[in-house]
Amino acid sequence: MCGIIGITGAQSVASQLLEALSLLEYRGYDSAGIAVVEKESGSIFRLRAAEQGGSLHHLIGSLGKADTSRFEYCAGIGHTRWATHGAPTTVNAHPHFDCGSSIAVVHNGIIENHHQLASDLRARGHVFSSETDTEVIAHLLEEETADGRTMKDAVVSLLTTLRGAFALACIHKDFPETIYAARRTSPLVIGMADSSCLLASDVAALVETTRNLFELGDDQVAEVTPIGFKVYDQLGVEMTPKPIKVGWSIEAARKGGFADYMSKEINEQQVAVAETILGRLNESGDSELEELEIDEASLSKVEKVLLVACGSSYHAALVGRHAIEAWAKIPAEVDIASEMRYRPMRIQENTLVIAISQSGETTDTYHALKQARSQGVLTIAMTNVVGSLMSREADGVLYTRAGPEIGVASTKCHLAQLSLLECLAFHLAGAKSALSGSEKAAIAGDIMNLPKLVEKTLARQDQYHKVAERYSEFRDFYYLGRRSGFPIALEGALKLKELAYVRAEAYPAGEMKHGPISLIEPGSIVVVVAKRSSLWEKIMANVEEMKARGATVIAVIDEDDEESASLVDDVLETPAVTEICSPVIGVIPLQTFAYSIAKARGHDVDRPRNLAKVVTVE
Ligand code: F6R
Repeated sequence: MCGIIGITGAQSVASQLLEALSLLEYRGYDSAGIAVVEKESGSIFRLRAAEQGGSLHHLIGSLGKADTSRFEYCAGIGHTRWATHGAPTTVNAHPHFDCGSSIAVVHNGIIENHHQLASDLRARGHVFSSETDTEVIAHLLEEETADGRTMKDAVVSLLTTLRGAFALACIHKDFPETIYAARRTSPLVIGMADSSCLLASDVAALVETTRNLFELGDDQVAEVTPIGFKVYDQLGVEMTPKPIKVGWSIEAARKGGFADYMSKEINEQQVAVAETILGRLNESGDSELEELEIDEASLSKVEKVLLVACGSSYHAALVGRHAIEAWAKIPAEVDIASEMRYRPMRIQENTLVIAISQSGETTDTYHALKQARSQGVLTIAMTNVVGSLMSREADGVLYTRAGPEIGVASTKCHLAQLSLLECLAFHLAGAKSALSGSEKAAIAGDIMNLPKLVEKTLARQDQYHKVAERYSEFRDFYYLGRRSGFPIALEGALKLKELAYVRAEAYPAGEMKHGPISLIEPGSIVVVVAKRSSLWEKIMANVEEMKARGATVIAVIDEDDEESASLVDDVLETPAVTEICSPVIGVIPLQTFAYSIAKARGHDVDRPRNLAKVVTVE
């Protein structure tokens, strides 16, 4: 959940650490900190801050007052935190020291046995200054190196001592140019530049400086110096590092002239969808997913699909289910990862499990995927991050090509997931020979037309903003949809909740009369997905039920659908599209609607309270 950076050999190492941390802030922003070895004094310089929404800014101000010439070309580490153990305060901010302030440590993940380790360390005289699980690492290294053991060997021994998931980096005052790192489950990437070496929890922090990148493997340790790095396994035996290829430009990770990342990312959705579809199907109805590395013969044996995910990715999974059932004509089920992983899994033979996660790191989805795989069924990970945990766990991987998503609330990654799930459902239909030639050509045409329709929808954003302005003061929203419209309703409600901090419930429209309709009264706002489909009349009957109880109804409708418009109070018009493809279009006005209401209420849309971009805790 946190962001880690390490740099050695750079001239202005401290300011470079802060710059890199600004690219990692989306991983957590409760606090930030850096530590750099001061060669001459033989000590470690540390700066930390825990300022709501402004920790990095605070650090930049403090660094401006410090004499940074003392630690040029030395090793430094930095961290941006999303609190798990211990409140978001300065004392809990990383880096953490050992008793003698000789070792500084930053860490992402959770040390599961930290209570036991801390109590043993305290019994042996160590004094702790934070409530974090991380601090045990600094004290363990202090003990390990006390009898002359090298830092490298001490870090290797941590792999045996620590339980849980972690990526960590540490420096020692006596080794001013070396950073030591280790990881298990949580990712860590190493980069080599001209005369410096870097490491980070995320490639986004490194691509500006270098594209010469390597992945630190699970249960491996790295010893990083300005002229290069070495990687060791659990036994301390040297290993060959694995290079990583990245296609992202640093510009893609910047705001590109928009007021915030969220509006930038909403406006990038046409490109995200276009790139995700690119080369994966053609007009004659053929699909091409060679990168999946699962052949059509294996896919043809699939009799059932189980999709698993969390949050917005779960909503994408619900859309995927409809597409698989309609096109591949096999049963598909969807499960929430945090529920699935704790149920006794009884996955039938010939089931394909698809784990969907934009980050590829969400703990619950990762463990659900891992457990499914241990049952011997075929698994696919769908993620936006090359080399992420899930991409390494599954039998096959499909990448959404949305580029880095910095806004905490998912927008372009969600649309890319929807498009990719449709490509995969279509591919599966091909493998199962479930569609005729003309059906295939028609569906491929619909999917390939999506980027154009997304562009047309985005061109209507002013209208969506205007409608939203009229509702920014209301506090009770209900989102309704049926079949493919229901996941759209769920996603719209989630966006409003997480960005505007307003209560928003989503229901399948037909479910309202089984209870929730009691809540409807004058002042209730009902947002209904009423794009034309075979269920349009039914949804309009549900609209009548809401209006009869005094609700104000806003409907997502097809453009120029005057009949629908005449039956509701306000409309969000979108281009017409076939029902299975409609979520890709229908979600957009609801993203903009939530964005506008959040802005009108004065919220930071990029960093909604209490949330983090990557959820690596349960
Ligand atoms: C909502 C949102 C979250 C994520 C969820 C899963 O806007 O972004 O609900 O969808 O935390 O994250 P991933 O897709 O990374 O597994």
